[in-house]
Amino acid sequence: MNIENKNIVNLNLKKDEKILDFSDFQKQSIKFDINKLQEAYNQIVQTKKFEDGGGIAHFGAISLTQIPGDPDSVKGSKARGVYWTKPDKSGKEVSRDISIDESAYSEFIPDYENTYFKEVFDTLSSKYKLGRVRILLKEPRSTLSWHRDPEPRLHIPLITNPGCLMVIDNVAKHMPADGSVWVTNNTKYHNAFNGGEENRVHLVACVLDYKFN
Ligand SMILES: [Fe+2]
Repeated sequence: MNIENKNIVNLNLKKDEKILDFSDFQKQSIKFDINKLQEAYNQIVQTKKFEDGGGIAHFGAISLTQIPGDPDSVKGSKARGVYWTKPDKSGKEVSRDISIDESAYSEFIPDYENTYFKEVFDTLSSKYKLGRVRILLKEPRSTLSWHRDPEPRLHIPLITNPGCLMVIDNVAKHMPADGSVWVTNNTKYHNAFNGGEENRVHLVACVLDYKFN
């Protein structure tokens, strides 16, 4: 075998190693009307401001569900919730923020009952055991921490751009805003960033009964 052939063999081996596994991003069989989703979002942001999760940079959430009759259950840290991260060179895992009783967030907030999100919530609730349902903002040129969450998350992208990617483990994926529904394995280490110049907005629900292999 000459040198040229050896290189081809080695390149092929590397190619095999680079085959990506997207099984932590699972597209669901339901689909919603993207125009109605965006209209509902526009309706809500006319009167509601994003919660900053207790003063966290580049974090914004509008909760669509709450603990019945308890508007405080969606404020400050409760708009965010517990996660685990590896913040420094030691690689040691630490937990941040507060634990959330996801299953208690069963009430769709009455202020939004006249929006398309109510229909979306009812449909999703009939198919999944949901925890909190939030609209999450990711501002341009911003990222999350490298972290893992207690449970998988359901995503419906409302506004996005090609520079918005979610990274789970070492696999990155863009989820288009076309009414599709995704469940992502947030129990693995992950991140999301917006490398565009416009806001990225997703409807994100905690899913309590979804199992990844
Ligand atoms: Fe997360």
